[in-house]
Amino acid sequence: MAATAETATASPIGQQTPRIDGSLKVSGKAMYASDFPFPALLYAVPVEATIANGKIQGLDTSEAEKIPGVRAIFHHGNIGKIFRSVKGKGMESICIERRPAFEDDVVRYYGQYIALAVADTFEIAKAAADAVRATYAKGKPNVNPDLKPDPDPDVVETTYGPEHRLQSERGDAEKAFSDAPVKLDQTYVTPSETHNPIELQGATAMWDGQMLTIYEESQAIFNMRSVLAQMFGLPEENVRVITKFVGSGFGSKLWPWTHCALACAAARQLGKPVKLVLSRRMTFQSAGHRARTQQRVRLGATPKGKLVSLMHDYVYERSMLDDYHENCGEATAFQYSVPNLRVQFGRAKRNIGSPSDMRGPGAVPGLYATESAMNELADQLKIDPVQLRLLNEPKIDESLGIPFSSRHYLECLQVGGEKFGWSRRTLGVGSMKRDGLILGWGMAGAAWVAARFAAQATIELRDDGTTRVACGTQDIGTGTYTILAQLASEKTGVPINKVEVALGDTSLPEGPVSGGSMATASVVPAVFAAADNAIASLLTIATTTPGSPFEKRKSDELAFEGGRVFVKAKGSAEGVAFADLLQHADLRFVTGSGKSAETFGERKPKFSTHSFGCHFVEVTWQPMMARLRVNRVVTVIDAGRIINPLAGRNQIEGAVVMGIGMALLEHTIYDPQNGAPINSSLADYIVAVNADVPKLDVHFLDYPDKVLNPVGARGIGEIGLAGIAAAITAATCHATGVRVRELPIRIEDLLESSVLA
Ligand code: MOS
Repeated sequence: MAATAETATASPIGQQTPRIDGSLKVSGKAMYASDFPFPALLYAVPVEATIANGKIQGLDTSEAEKIPGVRAIFHHGNIGKIFRSVKGKGMESICIERRPAFEDDVVRYYGQYIALAVADTFEIAKAAADAVRATYAKGKPNVNPDLKPDPDPDVVETTYGPEHRLQSERGDAEKAFSDAPVKLDQTYVTPSETHNPIELQGATAMWDGQMLTIYEESQAIFNMRSVLAQMFGLPEENVRVITKFVGSGFGSKLWPWTHCALACAAARQLGKPVKLVLSRRMTFQSAGHRARTQQRVRLGATPKGKLVSLMHDYVYERSMLDDYHENCGEATAFQYSVPNLRVQFGRAKRNIGSPSDMRGPGAVPGLYATESAMNELADQLKIDPVQLRLLNEPKIDESLGIPFSSRHYLECLQVGGEKFGWSRRTLGVGSMKRDGLILGWGMAGAAWVAARFAAQATIELRDDGTTRVACGTQDIGTGTYTILAQLASEKTGVPINKVEVALGDTSLPEGPVSGGSMATASVVPAVFAAADNAIASLLTIATTTPGSPFEKRKSDELAFEGGRVFVKAKGSAEGVAFADLLQHADLRFVTGSGKSAETFGERKPKFSTHSFGCHFVEVTWQPMMARLRVNRVVTVIDAGRIINPLAGRNQIEGAVVMGIGMALLEHTIYDPQNGAPINSSLADYIVAVNADVPKLDVHFLDYPDKVLNPVGARGIGEIGLAGIAAAITAATCHATGVRVRELPIRIEDLLESSVLA
């Protein structure tokens, strides 16, 4: 056993492993989609509509075509056929704006592409795009921020399939509300927000006969492959999508946008590779955004704080072209125990680019509303907001009538409260002070769905003692390369620095979407099964190769651990390294494949699987200059087993930073005159930067959730953004006396503070 102790290394699962791709990134060697050079590469720049509603009457391309170096000005008349795509079952072939660019002469939103200039250089293409003259028959755009639901049937088709507008119901919520001794009835508004990953969306497309290859920063390469195959009438195996690195996405790169097909179509027409990278402005117009929402929340309670009724009625904006569903009720029906509940939604069409999933879609705006309502109810009842949540902790998921796989929400609240020092809170507005500043304290809870998508992977054990793990998922900056290396290392005993990871290519085994915080949970069982199968083949080789130390043994007498094969009865001290066995058998490698099924969207799940968490926030308020700062945040997350606490903390910290932006800064504003997103640059659309962000304190509870996978990992990309805005608005109210129910908090709101100098 002594020898075992020497050779065995600590499990890589749970280690603070730095990014294995970190040095490639900081040295500039990581190849992002638009970094790949190609001979004879042409550059494309789209022409954007400058109206949001109407028709194109004339398109004069003559000046643009005269510019030397211009290869083509494409439009409806000459782009060639682009078919529509249709959604498959489940999560297959998702595309938010299904109408291909240039399909007709109708303009539905500002910035819709109406032509495409292609030239030898980017600068020439830009000059040509600017020289295209369009004339329009203009209609009045509807970008009205007041969202009244459009008439809709009870069941509506959405991007993700049919949805009942009555989303969840139990008991008689109306009656229980009207009978309730304590009532709260408030409406909360969240604005349109734009994802703003630093890497812009863009595609480089090239054809080789009937083979289409596209380099695109996608969060879902296989989905992109199936949509593009349909749009160009190709078998899926004729389309290859490559995404080696992604400069973040936040959901904006989940599904193909109209520019992808334009790049492919232009490359087809010209017989050369074409690169089309959006400008920052274009990403505000035509590459998705978080939908504006208006959410009425009604809570009925007993004087002691037990909920008796919860009604959540939300309306969200969508475009004229899409059926995107912003599921604000994602967490409403299970987060608290309440016998009478109703969640329903309506939709309002606007002349805007299509909204889409943005980090924590649905749940993030939804929890801002419901957690704010809980905080307001606590204030009304003069009950501590943590206590109000303890009083309403459910025993099971009451919406489905099934147990939670692993729920430690109360422990999150308890740990968060202790770390923050919540018990020292004093109640009165403006009652807490430090160093001449007024302090405000607030808290809120968080939840986000946990599930698996289908996944496949392969693992090679190689004769030089290295291993290769391959999975056609993608790393959107969250650490998937590193997680795959850790998983492969765990199973094969090969140290992390000898694991090669291949991802981001549809020629690899089909991997999951990097979305919904599900990639990690999804790849675990597939990688583990692949390793088990590779090891099983290795044991067969060990027992059948003439001259092998294990010749004539049976496979089931052998074991594999820490990279070595040994006879179970003798123990691992007499083990042989797999590299030696492969060399002896004259094999470069032995390979295993594994796959796992999806649990997302299961019709009859046995367990309700979610991650949970909470935030405690301190703001400082300087009444003299109406200055509000987030000063301290404690976040506690229950997201199952954390495979890499370094990457995990990075995800939660990033989400909290985004939450500070959501609460205080971010807001995409549409011009009522022409429907344009006005603040469509990083100078005008303000995101939180380091100066806005205090030291963030993140804790993980680390309870494995074995319902999801053998490691017990859930996901952590989105949960950190849930609830934070409600905690910040609660802290703001505590400091200033102003209850802000429309995000972001503006200085104008705070000038109404009773705590002014
Ligand atoms: Mo996330 S919105 O599923 O990228």
